[in-house]
Amino acid sequence: MAIMSYSPYVNPEAYEVAFSFRNYVEAVDFIIEACRAAGRAQVGSVVELGCGPGQYCREFARRGVKSCGVDLSPEMVAYTSAKCTEEKLDCPIIEADFRHFTLDQPVDLALTMMATFGYLLSNDDIIEHFDTVANNLTDDGLYLIELPHPRDVFDSQRGSTTNVWEIEKDGMKVHTDWALDAVLDPLTGIDSGTVRIKWEKDGHSGMIESPDHMRRLSFGLMQSLIKLSGRFAIVEMYGDLNINQPFDNNEKAWRMILVLRRIV
Ligand SMILES: C[S@@+](CC[C@H](N)C(=O)[O-])C[C@H]1O[C@@H](n2cnc3c(N)ncnc32)[C@H](O)[C@@H]1O
Repeated sequence: MAIMSYSPYVNPEAYEVAFSFRNYVEAVDFIIEACRAAGRAQVGSVVELGCGPGQYCREFARRGVKSCGVDLSPEMVAYTSAKCTEEKLDCPIIEADFRHFTLDQPVDLALTMMATFGYLLSNDDIIEHFDTVANNLTDDGLYLIELPHPRDVFDSQRGSTTNVWEIEKDGMKVHTDWALDAVLDPLTGIDSGTVRIKWEKDGHSGMIESPDHMRRLSFGLMQSLIKLSGRFAIVEMYGDLNINQPFDNNEKAWRMILVLRRIV
């Protein structure tokens, strides 16, 4: 039954169920508040990078904000485009690599959520990405990045998240093992492991097994690369998708959320 696949993202419906633990409406409320705190009272346009099922860009589009998504996976692009059509949302999903893409028009806000930024596996990839994102933003545009908390990089005894979980939604049951077997290469900072996603729906079942590689990023490395890029400055930081949660080392701070402003 296991299908060895080239990517964990070949079954977008199963991915969407697996990550349905997050309340995306509240998450977008937070993003809007974070933009306000960073001095942007109105967000007129948004791009979600590595958008997968496009939970954020679709929610922005529902609120009347000009939105689009960028993703490398053809399966995700097809799935999310179909969702947008179904909902009659004007939210183009573009198949492209977020290291180098060009939008038709610059946007006020770019987002990279969950741990997606970790797919930039080298410093060169990150610098190229910052350049590309900055080129696709309006003057004073913002870039919000969500990453795992640095505690998850340095202190495995106090890790903030679990790699194995099960969720049932809309008649689909999904058991996820997100690279519990991952091994960290201490020189590159890349975690390599196997993602296993088992699903059951309407009497059918399947399993995806895919290698996955993600860069572990410390706060110091992020600060250095942002500075080196010369394109952004950090303007706000949060430890959760909650405007009142500072980015610190208390248990309640379980994410590293950086709000960057484009340097003109
Ligand atoms: C962890 S999922 C995140 C999906 C969604 N943003 C969320 O928060 O749930 C990562 C997504 O990034 C995409 N991705 C990975 N590397 C990429 C790249 N270099 N350029 C564009 N998309 C990429 C994958 O195809 C996948 O859909």
